[in-house]
Amino acid sequence: MVLRVRNLVAGYGQSLVIHGVSLAVDRGEIACLLGRNGAGKTTTLRTIMGLTPPRSGTVTFRDAEIQGNAPFRIARLGIGFVPDDRRIFPDLTVLENLELARRVAGRSDRWTVQRVCELFPVLEGLLQHKGNHLSGGEQKMLAIGRALMQDPELLLLDEPIEGLAPLVVTHLGEALRQIREAGVTILLADQNVKFCRRVADRGYILEKGLIQFEGTMAAIWENEAILSKYLAV
Ligand SMILES: Nc1ncnc2c1ncn2[C@@H]1O[C@H](COP(=O)(O)OP(=O)(O)OP(=O)(O)O)[C@@H](O)[C@H]1O
Ligand SMILES: [Mg+2]
Repeated sequence: MVLRVRNLVAGYGQSLVIHGVSLAVDRGEIACLLGRNGAGKTTTLRTIMGLTPPRSGTVTFRDAEIQGNAPFRIARLGIGFVPDDRRIFPDLTVLENLELARRVAGRSDRWTVQRVCELFPVLEGLLQHKGNHLSGGEQKMLAIGRALMQDPELLLLDEPIEGLAPLVVTHLGEALRQIREAGVTILLADQNVKFCRRVADRGYILEKGLIQFEGTMAAIWENEAILSKYLAV
């Protein structure tokens, strides 16, 4: 397992949001965290990344426990995070955004600007455009490209297709498969079970801060009781 989360408890201020989440992601897998609004998907990803401190529980990445580390350390260990609000620099060009991501991380040059453009061809023609001139879908691609430039072993994606047009969603799904083929393990949080069924191998269903069901995406898709109870389908 690349990632193993055990009994993770976290929240904001006095209120707890996740109450003992356990999940594991195998090397080379695309796993997804499914659940309705407010289920705790973002909080789970943020806690893995060190952005929200865990109250208890463990996060094991490769062979080491990483809970309690600062986010930049966790990023350096090889976990990339693309938040739902796409963190790009609006005043920098696409090229500058990508190059800066690599310089900050200082890791290998397995991922290059050229390779990111092969993955997302639309970015190639936009390299000199500023971040804030991009469409929502282009910004999402750039945010994923930035995360890849840091050469992650595991990529955490929060709501990667939210607000995207259907054609862009199809392209993004294809890109995620190519990223996986390139050796990057993926954990994505989404509420769109149809999209997850297309791209993911396995899913965890989160509700009220607890994992209620786990299985292959085929098993989730065929389980009408689960779909209607926990997911808006
Ligand atoms: N910064 C915060 N401060 C206080 N409460 C928060 C904060 N962020 C989230 N919450 C609360 O935590 C709960 C879980 O939120 P979270 O964002 O983890 O859910 P989610 O599954 O990602 O939902 P969505 O599908 O809407 O993105 C919600 O009740 C939310 O109101
Ligand atoms: Mg969320």
